[in-house]
This record gives sequence, structure tokens and C-alpha cells, in this order.
Amino acid sequence: MASSGKFDGVDFSQIDIESLTPEIQQLGQGFRCVRGEFVTYWKQGRIQREADAYLCQCWIIRVEDALVGYITLLADKLEVEDTLLAQERVKYRTFPAVKIGLLAVDRRTKGLGVRLTEWAIDYVITKVTPIIGVRFITVDALYDPDVEPPYDASGFYEKLGFEFANPIEHLPPVNPYRTMYLDLKPLIEALAREELDEDQL
Ligand SMILES: CC(C)(COP(=O)(O)OP(=O)(O)OC[C@H]1O[C@@H](n2cnc3c(N)ncnc32)[C@H](O)[C@@H]1OP(=O)(O)O)[C@@H](O)C(=O)NCCC(=O)NCCS
Repeated sequence: MASSGKFDGVDFSQIDIESLTPEIQQLGQGFRCVRGEFVTYWKQGRIQREADAYLCQCWIIRVEDALVGYITLLADKLEVEDTLLAQERVKYRTFPAVKIGLLAVDRRTKGLGVRLTEWAIDYVITKVTPIIGVRFITVDALYDPDVEPPYDASGFYEKLGFEFANPIEHLPPVNPYRTMYLDLKPLIEALAREELDEDQL
């Protein structure tokens, strides 16, 4: 959706992403999202409650006192039909993953969904994979058949390289979402190569 008005001209790449704190929970009164339930999740404190219960960690981005986006991350396992890593001689069909739980941006912004998702991918690669085995980032991409046209978040994740865990699933899906995954290995290896190149300069 095109940006309009309030946040025009804001360079979100220059704004830090912050961990959710109880003070930040107070923000968000003016938050507007293309899917109203994501405003409700925030305003009714669901995200703060789940973070307090260690069910997720939440990061936010704000412009002064206005919440403009949030993303939650939690531990997950990716289950697939195929032996995804057969070429690596790994026969499992279940893999350790980190899940994007909830992701929402103010509808008057542009590019913020990508900024938050790429930040999360980078965070998992740099902070989590060095200390615990995590091969994939997963997401249950929202699919709502009850609006016209159906709301389908999967296109957003596809643009970022995510693939469907069940590529032959019929629409509408059984659940109001389709599980997708991003393989972190190529990204981890690319980062390692970049760091090696920098060291050699
Ligand atoms: C999904 C969401 C986070 C995307 O954030 P966004 O800031 O609008 O996305 P961006 O502006 O960063 O868009 C990046 C690209 O993805 C595209 N895109 C965004 N949503 C898309 C969708 N549902 N299907 C296909 N493409 C989509 C944009 O058009 C843009 O394409 P471009 O680079 O060619 O211009 C946002 O629309 C949102 O908050 N939706 C409601 C909550 C939701 O559905 N969350 C995800 C649940 S799993």
C-alpha cells in the first residue's frame, strides 16, 4: 500500500529497532494497520502478555511517540513432507527454526515490513545461530478467504525468498494461513564470506 501523509519522508532505515518494554506498550494509540486485528492484539496487551510469559520476544519501531511497526519471534520447528536437506545427507523432516509470530506495520508507511523482516533475519543469523542450531525462519502467512479479494500475506514473504512448507496446498488453506520457511544456510555462508573479505582488506 502506498504511504500517505503522516510518515512521508521518514527514512526508516535510520531508525533503531527496539525491544518491547512496558513503557513502549503505552504507545500505539494511533497505530493503523490494514488488518485491524493486529491493532487489537497490540492495544489489548496480548503481545506484552506473551512477551512477559516468555512465549515470544517483540521488537518495535517508532517515530517519536508513534508506534509504526512490530514483530515477534519465537522458537519453532519446521515440519515438511520432503527430506529438504537430502543433498546434505540429512534425512530429517523436522528442523529447528525461529518463527515470525506477529508482524504488522502502520498502513501509512512504505517499506517497513521489509525493514522489520530483514532485521529479524539478520538478528537470528548473527545472534541466535552462533549459539543454538537454527536452520530456518518460519512464518504462518495469513490467508483470509472471507474478504474480497482474499487477503494473502504470502506474496510479501515470497518476495523475501520464503517458500511454502506445503507447496501443493489448495486454496483456501485448511487453516487461515500457509506455513512458509526461509533457509538461513546460504545467508549465513554469504555473511561469513563477507566477513572474510573484510578481514583480508
Ligand atoms: C504484511 C505487511 C507486514 C507488509 O508490510 P509492508 O510495509 O506493507 O510491506 P513493504 O512496504 O515492505 O513491501 C515490500 C514489498 O512487498 C509487497 N507486498 C506487501 N504486502 C504484500 C502482499 N500481501 N502480497 C504481495 N506483495 C506484498 C509490497 O508491494 C512491496 O513490493 P515492492 O517492493 O515491489 O514495492 C503489512 O502489509 C501488514 O502489516 N499487514 C497486516 C498484518 C499481516 O498481514 N502481517 C503478516 C501476517 S503473517
